[in-house]
Amino acid sequence: MSRIVVVSNRVGPLSDTGRAGGLAVALVDVLRERGGLWFGWSGQISEEGTYGPLRLHEEGNVSTATIDVTQADYDEFYAGFANRALWPTLHYRLDLTDFDKRLEQGYRRVNERFAQRLVPLLRPDDIVWVHDYHFFFLGEELRNAGITNPIGFFLHIPFPVPEVLTALPNHRRLAEAMSNYDLLGFQTSGHLHAFERYLFEEADGTRNDDHSISVFGRTVMADAYPIGIDANAFSNFHQSTEGADNYSLMRRELDTQKQIVGVDRIDYSKGLPERFEAFERLLEMYPEHKGEVTMLQIAPPSRSEVRAYLEIQRQLEGLSGRINGRFSDLDWTPIHLISRSFPRRSLAGIYRASAVGLVTPLRDGMNLVAKEYVAAQDPSDPGVLVLSRFAGAAEEMREAIIVNPYSIDELAEGLRQAIQMTRDERIDRWNALNEKVTTNTASAWSRRFLDDLTSINSPLLAETSR
Ligand code: ADP
Ligand code: F6P
Repeated sequence: MSRIVVVSNRVGPLSDTGRAGGLAVALVDVLRERGGLWFGWSGQISEEGTYGPLRLHEEGNVSTATIDVTQADYDEFYAGFANRALWPTLHYRLDLTDFDKRLEQGYRRVNERFAQRLVPLLRPDDIVWVHDYHFFFLGEELRNAGITNPIGFFLHIPFPVPEVLTALPNHRRLAEAMSNYDLLGFQTSGHLHAFERYLFEEADGTRNDDHSISVFGRTVMADAYPIGIDANAFSNFHQSTEGADNYSLMRRELDTQKQIVGVDRIDYSKGLPERFEAFERLLEMYPEHKGEVTMLQIAPPSRSEVRAYLEIQRQLEGLSGRINGRFSDLDWTPIHLISRSFPRRSLAGIYRASAVGLVTPLRDGMNLVAKEYVAAQDPSDPGVLVLSRFAGAAEEMREAIIVNPYSIDELAEGLRQAIQMTRDERIDRWNALNEKVTTNTASAWSRRFLDDLTSINSPLLAETSR
């Protein structure tokens, strides 16, 4: 079997240290199962002009190879074009974009340098799988360097409709760079259709009989591959020491109260202020829930060097303070905001102890928390998932309570319905959801993508084997 080489900005850690972010979580599971090489950023800043030595690490069947970036790269690539231009555009937040040309140049430079450092590590029969919006141009750079191996790309975040994407300067160049990948994977059929529409409407793409698309003088295959989690591990985590300890602690603290839980990086795409306001609305409209229901929001800071992120963090602290000031009693505090990460085992115990999982992004590629919450439940007394229609997960998880996160009233009503749901209905909904979460796992997702990538009859591959 060919070796898999995974490329992503964040690499590891391979053990459960509880770093937040869906991509690393999904890839750890996949790599541990298949073995392979994981290449990307070390998380370190090196001196100007150098990328430092390759940092190599091996754990069982997985090797990691990482490089540093310079301060300028960090500012222009990661905190710049990736998170000030691409992230907000792809999440439909054009109001938060910064399209400074310098940032885009830095992004292109880093893609080129990462490709240069990866090339010597590649073997002729490797299958390369590049991940996420940090590396739209990496495939093109690898092709320019003469790499003919199969190269796939998976986008973990939404791909917006052409009416939104075309606000990005040089959007056509971005799409052209994407066409260098043999297979492009998206989280949902909605994102896939948005991408295909772009190719047909903005780049004269044409569909071929085998479903591929001819565009920019190349042929690409694209499909939807909804990402999953390691559901088995998650459903067993509550038996681990951390999981069991957290579960008992929470249940003891909560006593007869019902807990609504949210777990997200602090990000404006996650709909966090709306969530707090909805909880406030619930307490206003249905005062009988005072003292009976609490909300726990676990929200570690993320990308704090980007102003919009700091602002949302301040806004959340302000909102939780205001709501607690307004509704708290001597023996009850409505909102509990914890701004740090937890190991996944502990999260499983917290999910299991919570009667409602509240996942209400304004836009999200998939949202793994929705799946983790379901996997962690007690089958005989499961909690209820309240899920935004704008999370990729909503395409599959129809048995959740699906809500519009922009409507505070609808969110509050969704919460009310979840809190009051009978055990029979909870069990029925959970069975249907759990069936999906345990079928479409992280390993099924990667297997499907890699099987498709391998079976594509890449003309480049055919050329080299001749
Ligand atoms: P994103 O990739 O945008 O962060 P996802 O919901 O897809 O969103 O994935 C988030 C992942 O990060 C999940 O696996 C979740 O368990 C993890 N995570 C989020 N917040 C925390 C936290 N406070 N502690 C530990 N893990 C977290
Ligand atoms: O899943 C989306 C994603 O942007 C990943 O690419 C990333 O690793 C994760 O969220 C966390 O973000 P960051 O790497 O910027 O901390």
